[in-house]
Amino acid sequence: MRRTCVIAPSILSADFTRLGEQIAEAESAGADWLHVDVMDGHFVPNLTMGPFVVEACRRATKLPLDVHLMIEAPERFLEAFAKAGASSLIVHVETCPDITGTLKTIKSFGCKAGVTLNPATPASDIEHTLILADQVLVMTVHPGYSGQEFMPEVLSKVAEIRRRLDEIHSSAWLEVDGGISAANIYRVREAGADAFVAANSIFHHPDGIAAGIRSLREHLK
Ligand code: DX5
Ligand code: ZN
Repeated sequence: MRRTCVIAPSILSADFTRLGEQIAEAESAGADWLHVDVMDGHFVPNLTMGPFVVEACRRATKLPLDVHLMIEAPERFLEAFAKAGASSLIVHVETCPDITGTLKTIKSFGCKAGVTLNPATPASDIEHTLILADQVLVMTVHPGYSGQEFMPEVLSKVAEIRRRLDEIHSSAWLEVDGGISAANIYRVREAGADAFVAANSIFHHPDGIAAGIRSLREHLK
């Protein structure tokens, strides 16, 4: 039987003047993880947060902190993010010449190790990492900003990775990130995903954060 799906609100669309409150609201509304988007202005055009914000989130919630590193040479910062309280560290295969070594380093710091890939990167580029990964994150937008349109052409890659994970009896989470909403979450789950990151459809839901989470969960059924 398939396990329950994870909803991971991304604080990228939160109101940072009230971050603690908004995180508490997401937690009490049943969020499973909290997703933190780290961007360096090089690997992606946007610049966001670092270990300092992860450390503040760690004090604000007991939820696992799912830290998505959209940065060049992420190995420079793994220890700092682990010390700040990250539960999982997700690195882009495009930024890691030795992705296997990087995933092992993440585990050595006591974090779950995640690998992710851009929409244009084929599944074959992460094939050799699947045996090691605790999480595989498939980007369903070009990374850099919240509020972008979901790319349905990536669904076949989600299905392909689901098949490969099942073939090797991996229990890794298959996570998706970008443009996830009530309108597409069911389709993405049908393709094989079981963890869903969402920023706009939660933090900008017209009826509030709890309604956003509830709506995503209802549409999973
Ligand atoms: C995009 C980030 C996402 C982003 C998702 O580069 O990795 O986590 O916050 O935002 P939405 O759900 O609004 O597409
Ligand atoms: Zn993300």
